[in-house]
Amino acid sequence: MELPEWANVMYDVIVFVGMTFVYIIESILLTFIPRNYRAKSMKGDIALITGGAGGIGSLIAKKLAKLGAYVVIWDINKTGMESTVRAIRENGGKCCCYYCDITNKEEVYKAAKTVEIEVGSVTLLINNAGYVYGKTLMDLPDDEIERTYRVNILSHYWTTKAFMKEMMKNNHGHIVTVASVAGLLGTYKCTDYSATKFAAIGYHESLFSELRADGYNGIHTTLVCPAYINTDMFVGVTPRIPMLEPEHVAEEVVSGILVNQAVIVLPKTTRFLLPLKYLLPAKSCWALMYNILRGPQSMMTMKEKEEKQILKNNNNFGIISNSAYAQ
Ligand SMILES: *[C@@H]1O[C@H](CO)[C@@H](O)[C@H](O)[C@H]1NC(C)=O
Repeated sequence: MELPEWANVMYDVIVFVGMTFVYIIESILLTFIPRNYRAKSMKGDIALITGGAGGIGSLIAKKLAKLGAYVVIWDINKTGMESTVRAIRENGGKCCCYYCDITNKEEVYKAAKTVEIEVGSVTLLINNAGYVYGKTLMDLPDDEIERTYRVNILSHYWTTKAFMKEMMKNNHGHIVTVASVAGLLGTYKCTDYSATKFAAIGYHESLFSELRADGYNGIHTTLVCPAYINTDMFVGVTPRIPMLEPEHVAEEVVSGILVNQAVIVLPKTTRFLLPLKYLLPAKSCWALMYNILRGPQSMMTMKEKEEKQILKNNNNFGIISNSAYAQ
């Protein structure tokens, strides 16, 4: 007998409520089990991290290598890359690095083939490289806006397309998107940065949806949204909530990856603040932003980039100012 549509909807809702109840109990129970008891093994994994020469990228690379993963670093900072590789190898870890400018699609595809041949199939992809110029809209040079888009979001398409085919073949893998709290809230001097981070979150959620709906349950995804981290990226910024320490962020990211955590928002309290964006009246939201969190004011003191970014024509083999590339 065909049930009427309303009965089907009722049935689905009842099943959903039941499942949610079970999932909430599950989450509560899991919080009592330390994460290291639930962690998956990294042995045999090949982890590729973009922007692994410095900042949290380098710290994540070191931690993954310590856990037994073979770590591949992509960056355009050769000295930073090499010193990370050296440090990992001195500690008995397996690691190598490739110069790859991820703003260049052809270079990404070429470097991906080289990795596949020389190291093997990547099972953990961490889209970590990030870039920020830090100016209000009218002061943003056009080429810097484009560069921000290329590094922070467009590159994710090229790297994921390059490595996901093998993951799909084996229904095994993990894709990590390092976005930002700026991808959940827009802020001062961030019309480009924030927009690319919003894009990264939309990209990530859609990718997750495609993998789940198409039955790739063995490919996990993790979205990372940290607030300001005390690295070379946001120098001079004076947030009211203290900056996150890179070591802490790297630790949270790696332990999150090990338990296939879906979303990592740091500091953790942020997740209680975020819903207010949709619940409070807009004027109150702005008051919270401006008078309590002082987000815009904190960005006003951001240190100017020392050198002008030099981008040669369009092939992007550019010289990049000090550390701007590290997440
Ligand atoms: C390269 O990386 C190292 C280590 O993170 C950093 O100290 C250095 O400033 C970076 N150089 C450039 C040109 O970005």
